[in-house]
Amino acid sequence: MLADKRIAIIGSGTMGRIIASGLLKSGKVKPEQVRATARTKASAEKVARELSVACTTANAEAAEGADLVILCVKPKDVAKAADSLHVGGNRPLVLSIAAGISTAFLEGLFEAGTPVLRAMPNTPCLIGKGMTVLAKGNHATDDHIALATEVFAPLGRVLELEEKHMDTVTGLSASGPAFIYIIIEALADGGVMRGLPRNVATTLVAQMTLGAAEMVLTTGRHPAALKDDVTTPAGCTIAGILALEDGRIRSVLARGVETAARVAGELGK
Ligand SMILES: NC(=O)c1ccc[n+]([C@@H]2O[C@H](COP(=O)([O-])OP(=O)(O)OC[C@H]3O[C@@H](n4cnc5c(N)ncnc54)[C@H](OP(=O)(O)O)[C@@H]3O)[C@@H](O)[C@H]2O)c1
Repeated sequence: MLADKRIAIIGSGTMGRIIASGLLKSGKVKPEQVRATARTKASAEKVARELSVACTTANAEAAEGADLVILCVKPKDVAKAADSLHVGGNRPLVLSIAAGISTAFLEGLFEAGTPVLRAMPNTPCLIGKGMTVLAKGNHATDDHIALATEVFAPLGRVLELEEKHMDTVTGLSASGPAFIYIIIEALADGGVMRGLPRNVATTLVAQMTLGAAEMVLTTGRHPAALKDDVTTPAGCTIAGILALEDGRIRSVLARGVETAARVAGELGK
């Protein structure tokens, strides 16, 4: 479906660039199908150079005749960017990745009946290991979800959920990489404290994290059961777990997600 679509990417920062390069790397989209924009000329020129796609500061020009408009600006810039598109009665599919911006708000910015989707990707999309959740607005159909899935599938896993979950998804899988980087750094600190060189400790932790995540995804077993496999009675792992529990690791992590999700919901207000 993507092969014959004209795609406008409005906002070419961290996420806009990741999506554009994913589309191009997938081989389903040719550079001439993509028109990107940025706020400043300097950013636009850099993106055009790096991705070999047309990238300017002219939103209306980029969106003219587009079948798919992907809004990749910060939440506070969504209304202004949408206003500058002038897509009128053309009614392309509008796909927004902005945290906290509802489909109802987006629908109000475009011609009545314009199909709108929200998507919440994350930065590991850069290496094809992302997690993207999609949610439909009032006029979006399963065909629109299928098209958006084509956009994000080359970047990792894609899942559709009801919109009511999108702020939670933002606090969990979109903010989550930052939480995991802190955990990786902290675990490596433990190794460094015991005498490992920093780079070795970081490699051990990162590969271990990758393996543990794959175990959860591929076995489908509950993380608690997988944890039990590692904990020999009276052994070193249960000793370490008790030290973590003394620091309230579970509630600290869960509250981190809850807080990020709450703030995500406030970004659009
Ligand atoms: N970063 C994440 O991990 C992540 C994950 C999921 C979703 N998101 C969502 O993705 C969106 C973008 O985040 P980001 O991290 O990619 O932000 P970013 O790096 O700051 O990029 C924003 C881009 O928007 C451009 N821009 C600003 N106003 C514009 C306008 N009126 N017209 C056209 N372009 C405009 C900026 O241009 P200049 O460079 O010229 O200023 C920049 O290229 C946000 O809404 C965020 O909620 C982010």
